[in-house]
Amino acid sequence: MSTPSQVPLPTEEQAYIDNVVGGWTGRPGALLGILEAVQERNPHKYLSLETLRYIAMKTRTPLSRLYSVATFYALFNLQPQGENTVCICRGTACHTRGSRNLLQSVRLDLGLAVEDSDSDGNDADKLLLTTPDQKFTVRTVACFGQCAMAPVVEVNHRICGHATERTVQREIETIRAGE
Ligand code: FES
Repeated sequence: MSTPSQVPLPTEEQAYIDNVVGGWTGRPGALLGILEAVQERNPHKYLSLETLRYIAMKTRTPLSRLYSVATFYALFNLQPQGENTVCICRGTACHTRGSRNLLQSVRLDLGLAVEDSDSDGNDADKLLLTTPDQKFTVRTVACFGQCAMAPVVEVNHRICGHATERTVQREIETIRAGE
């Protein structure tokens, strides 16, 4: 069981979380709102274990529950993210419309080469890869809830429906060009 003395978060981050938790007290959806606000402020857009511990303590929520919420919702990250995120749906509708090829294409484009060991047979697994320069993170989700637009890719939180290798490539080129 964690105790306050085990939490090594910087004072400034603790103060921010205290403020967010205070603002959400008694409101519906508080837990999701708090996690979202705290993750958004993190420069690498993720929730560290220390952060989850602190939120658990402040909201009097079991850490296991927070962890379940953070792992259930695709929105939340438990590892540092690149500056840009390309998220590819691996749900059934998207899979049957070619999301696997999209994923391979994006990985090749970003230099996240496909290894023999993960080139097939693990389509149901969640994937999270970040380029060595921390510019891009590629991840997968089980379903965006936008199956009618399959295959669906989300680039920096913008949904791209009926995605093709070319359209996703263009999205990445546009981001690179803007750097
Ligand atoms: S299966 Fe891809 S959005 Fe639902």
